[in-house]
Amino acid sequence: APDTTADGTTGEPPTLPTDRRTGCPFDPPGELTALSDRPLRRMRYADGHIGWLATGHAAARAVLSDPRFSSRYELLHLPVPMPGMEGMTAVPPAPTGDFLGLDAPEHTRYRRLLTGKFTVRRMRQLSERVEQFTHECLDAMEQAGPTVDLVEAFARPVPALMICELLGVPYADRDRFQEHVATLFDQAADAEARGAAFAAVGRFMGELVAAKRAEPTDDLLSDLTTSDLTEEELIGVGGVLLAAGLDTTANMLGLGTFALLSNPDQLDALRADPGLAGQTVEELLRYLSVADPIPRAALEDVEIEGRLVRAGETVTVSVQAANRDPLKFPDPDRFDIHRKATGHVSFGHGPHQCLGQQLARVEMTVAFPALFARFPTLRLAVPPQEVPLRDRANIYGVISLPVTWDKE
Ligand code: HEM
Repeated sequence: APDTTADGTTGEPPTLPTDRRTGCPFDPPGELTALSDRPLRRMRYADGHIGWLATGHAAARAVLSDPRFSSRYELLHLPVPMPGMEGMTAVPPAPTGDFLGLDAPEHTRYRRLLTGKFTVRRMRQLSERVEQFTHECLDAMEQAGPTVDLVEAFARPVPALMICELLGVPYADRDRFQEHVATLFDQAADAEARGAAFAAVGRFMGELVAAKRAEPTDDLLSDLTTSDLTEEELIGVGGVLLAAGLDTTANMLGLGTFALLSNPDQLDALRADPGLAGQTVEELLRYLSVADPIPRAALEDVEIEGRLVRAGETVTVSVQAANRDPLKFPDPDRFDIHRKATGHVSFGHGPHQCLGQQLARVEMTVAFPALFARFPTLRLAVPPQEVPLRDRANIYGVISLPVTWDKE
């Protein structure tokens, strides 16, 4: 019979370990790795709920692809306290347009509309623009150097310009837009500044949707104005694309550069053969697992890996643990750009699997080789242990990355 006990171990189930800064900055927290003897085990949540933690790759995929597990925020228990939500016992439902927090059929309606807009033609168009933005950012970086913060000079602006392009933000408004967005994702900004930036981005999105309705241009938001989405839904979708596409890609570029600089043999291999860029990106996605964790709520009793998850219980999928499962990826802690890292769950899995993954891959496949080709002597400007790392769950990365190079 499936077992519902706390693993047959004695004592309290553990809480989710989230602090990756204790050892190698690219590895999961040591306490998490220590728990990986069981693909699914009991875990204590922020509000005291005793739910589950999935650390195995097969368990992660089983949970994420099963419609009996819900994404609805109001059904979830928070794996760790969220900043600003301490003491809150219930999670509010998704605001209008935030389809990440919906299930079928409501989720499917948004998903169908949007999938049709991420066309091959649009992705090809965008990839040409990525090349251009990347080189513009590198030019500006060269001017500002030979010592810069790579996050500010490169990792943030490239994805921000891409989202502007996708949504059709006019050039004249891009600086204003980027400024608000930078504050929104700045971990050092206080709650008040972030609140103001959140409101400003909302207003901006409102104006943008109105402008696209009045005068459509060749972009995703304009295309969506002819769908049955309401004004409020459109504004929400714009916000979701921004929130989902920016901080994730920016942190992959920042932390990914740090990882490559820290593994010179791998970087040399990539430099020698730029054809390896695609699989390097895939391995970086697996190895770094920046978007983590992903919680789901059981709508009914479900058996997973021989354990019985009861209706109402939350299961937290640890993306980083699943991506380091030795049953799926041999010698998982080794960063190896020659391995085939496909099958990782860094973009999630199942009905909510990342809608922007092709775009993110294009951005990274262009950006990393271009950066290292432009600055062959690129290196850290501080000792590696002084690179400030994010400490919260959700999106991991570097807060800043001081780099330098030899001027010719
Ligand atoms: C969903 C990761 C880039 C748009 C997701 C999910 C993950 C993820 C893990 C699944 C969440 C869940 O199941 O609850 C990432 C990573 C990225 C990235 C690691 C960069 C390397 C992007 C970009 C865009 C984007 C560039 C848009 C342009 C979305 C959207 C969803 C999503 C709209 C929600 C899909 C749904 O709920 O159906 N992403 N993402 N992402 N992502 Fe990404």
